[in-house]
Amino acid sequence: MTRNTSDHGTDDPVVGLLRRAGCVFAEEEAAVLREHAAGAAELDELCARRAAGEPLEHLVGWVRFGDLRLCVGPGVFVPRQRSLLLARIAVAAVRARRSPLVLEAFCGVAPIAATVAAAGLDARLHVIDIDPTALACARQNLPRGSGVHLGDGLSPLPPGLRGHVDVIAAVPPYVPDASVGFLPHEACDHEPRNALVGGPDGLDHILELIRAARDWLCVGGILLVEMNSEQFEVVTDRVEHIGHDDLDAIPGADGQTVVARYRRRPIASTAN
Ligand SMILES: C[S@@+](CC[C@H](N)C(=O)[O-])C[C@H]1O[C@@H](n2cnc3c(N)ncnc32)[C@H](O)[C@@H]1O
Repeated sequence: MTRNTSDHGTDDPVVGLLRRAGCVFAEEEAAVLREHAAGAAELDELCARRAAGEPLEHLVGWVRFGDLRLCVGPGVFVPRQRSLLLARIAVAAVRARRSPLVLEAFCGVAPIAATVAAAGLDARLHVIDIDPTALACARQNLPRGSGVHLGDGLSPLPPGLRGHVDVIAAVPPYVPDASVGFLPHEACDHEPRNALVGGPDGLDHILELIRAARDWLCVGGILLVEMNSEQFEVVTDRVEHIGHDDLDAIPGADGQTVVARYRRRPIASTAN
């Protein structure tokens, strides 16, 4: 790649190329690509693919999530920085319990379970996803001995866990079907559609998860679900009386994301 000062205010050709392609954090991305490339030819190829829209994380095979560097492969959902909120809340919920059983549902590469593991808490971890490619990354991000389950919703969990899970945390797909076109091209073109959208109002998986969690949580167990702030009230209206107390919705700094917290009620006071 030749060096010349561009109208994008840099004499670094990689930064210039990435800026022209619309990368907001061009300097940081250039540094990551340089670190990853084995030589000039590979750097050129990676820059061209990045400029054409491939997610940086797919190109280099990892994503920074808080203090962690997580494995993430091509074709897999890349954990978003907004989900650090859920990770922090999950760690706090797990810390409050002794040797808890923790499940990340809709786990993708398992950023929440990996954060809990890295916190050094004495937790037994399980994760579920429908995408075997994502689970291959999750295995690399989790301690050996974690339960990694392939399948739909919560259905692949071992029956012996029924009623014993202390904390369930999830980022289900929650974009309304019709809004998928408004997502960045990186997401639409390079992440699986079923990792993004959740039905006409985006709530299909969230509502099903809230219903199904009742059977797996222990009494007093906590369910944490990331969603859009506008979705929280709709969800609250539709899941009343299904065996959880609504605790609260903890807002993210972006003004859009919330983490909804529910607590499993005792059987005797469970309606529906
Ligand atoms: C929005 S991504 C979140 C992934 C991960 N929790 C994260 O924050 O990076 C949603 C995930 O749900 C998975 N998924 C979609 N439909 C599913 C289903 N019916 N059952 C289980 N997992 C599903 C997708 O494969 C994807 O990995």
